Amino acid sequence: MLFLRAFFFFINRKRFSFCVNWFIIFKRLRFGSMSKKIEKIGVLTSGGDAPGMNAAIRAVVRACAYYDLGCVGIYRGYQGLIDKDFEELAARSVRNIINRGGTFLKSARCAAFRTEEGRALAHQNLVEAGIDALVVIGGDGSFTGALRLKEEHGFPVIGIPATIDNDINGTDYTIGYDTALNTVVDAIDKIRDTASSHNRLFLVEVMGRDAGDIALNSGVGAGAEEILIPEEDKGIEHLIESLKRSKKSGKTSSIIVVAEGERSGKNILELAEIIGTKVTGYDIRVSVLGHIQRGGAPSCYDRVLASKLGVGAVDALLKGESNVMVGITNRKVTSVAFEIAIKKQRPLDTDLRRVLNITTI
Ligand code: F6P
Repeated sequence: MLFLRAFFFFINRKRFSFCVNWFIIFKRLRFGSMSKKIEKIGVLTSGGDAPGMNAAIRAVVRACAYYDLGCVGIYRGYQGLIDKDFEELAARSVRNIINRGGTFLKSARCAAFRTEEGRALAHQNLVEAGIDALVVIGGDGSFTGALRLKEEHGFPVIGIPATIDNDINGTDYTIGYDTALNTVVDAIDKIRDTASSHNRLFLVEVMGRDAGDIALNSGVGAGAEEILIPEEDKGIEHLIESLKRSKKSGKTSSIIVVAEGERSGKNILELAEIIGTKVTGYDIRVSVLGHIQRGGAPSCYDRVLASKLGVGAVDALLKGESNVMVGITNRKVTSVAFEIAIKKQRPLDTDLRRVLNITTI
């Protein structure tokens, strides 16, 4: 009889999922980590800022509040760990920041944290503040630091990929990349107005460090004539030939997107000069977009991604995971070891390259 009652109680789907959810939350709170129960989480942003970092901090802080965990914001990345620049954060501390670019916790590239002594001091400060685990929001350099902290001191760390470069393994997208792409496409659209009004050839330099994702995708999205990216070295002659062909086909203006890390060995001004001597009939101009690509309000995609990964990071810690980055693969939050995340081996999207070649005929 009792069994039947329990059975009928549970086949009510709403009640069933309610009970399961509370069981999971209880289990996470009670047995969050096999090694040490996690009660307080530190969060920091490190490396170059990226739009959506604030949304990620907000999600981490609110997930902590949801699970009744303490949360400590660490200012200026690893530098703040060394200087003990900490502040307790509650759910309301992160109001009205989901729409803001940059990072309110500020960011820094910290030389002291690259030394063993620096990391030992950082660890000591974490322990003294009662912080049991750390969420690091940043790029590959930041994850390398996190890896050392885990290796040398066994401190639990979870990474959230945030960089406009989209150069992290094990995630389809990094936070900030989508916003940067939209900024670049918007800028190139504006440049196109002048290019077509004056029959000009524009070379537009975009960021991305050693990755060509911003250049390739904005190139396709903004209808650029050619792109130069670090993943392929086609040589300047190839570019000249392509420009001559398009001139012959009747094009009166052109845009070339140049990734800052491309491999011709020339800077953008030198490239413009070489092209000027070999392709006639164009008035050539150069535009370096620079840090406007890192600023501005995050796109909706970046806000959603940051929210998912922020919650995912706290979930991962409570499941006892550590030394991993939470990323997004086919819309699902997944965990990947730091060692894999920081390996520079993302292959070129050859199909997108092909699409560019076809659509610029
Ligand atoms: O990693 C983000 C990024 O904006 C790169 O695209 C660029 O190469 C670099 O940072 C610029 O760094 P900084 O702001 O230190 O000049």
